[in-house]
Amino acid sequence: MMRRLPAFALLAALASATLAVSAAGARKPEPATEPTPARVTANGFTLTSSTIELPVEEPFFPDSPDGGPKADTINADCTACHSASMTLTQPALSPETWAGIVHKMRDVYHAPVPEEDVPAILAYLTHLSPKAAPVTE
Ligand code: HEC
Repeated sequence: MMRRLPAFALLAALASATLAVSAAGARKPEPATEPTPARVTANGFTLTSSTIELPVEEPFFPDSPDGGPKADTINADCTACHSASMTLTQPALSPETWAGIVHKMRDVYHAPVPEEDVPAILAYLTHLSPKAAPVTE
């Protein structure tokens, strides 16, 4: 019984300390956050804050929505260096142009794309380009 008393006393002290802290916290209102000034001038220098809207980055390729080629292979081979957006934001390109891009990724940038994956990647890419008005370079 004597050995348990100090522990109990400590708990009671902790509890009252916690109550005191939370009571003090309740009294203090949060300071209102100042709006960030858009322009600050000092010593002849003016710093202007501007906001830019970046396009949404798609990290991965979606499966073709119409049940066309799946995105597994292109996601495995083509998302290590840049997001899928780099590819998804291209204009409609001819199959030959896509083939040229895939070969450039492999030969120039050393993308680790196995030869046997190339047909699946090209199938996905050519399906991606709207069939109506292909733009050739
Ligand atoms: C080893 C890194 C790497 C991998 C993996 C990679 N790329 Fe790239 N890719 C790049 C670089 C670097 C650029 C930027 C080239 C530039 O700015 O001209 C780029 C640019 C692109 C572009 C923009 C158009 C262009 O011709 O530059 C497309 C489209 C593209 N990549 C598609 C792919 C596809 C499809 C794959 C998979 C087969 C892939 N990338 C895999 C490094 C990579």
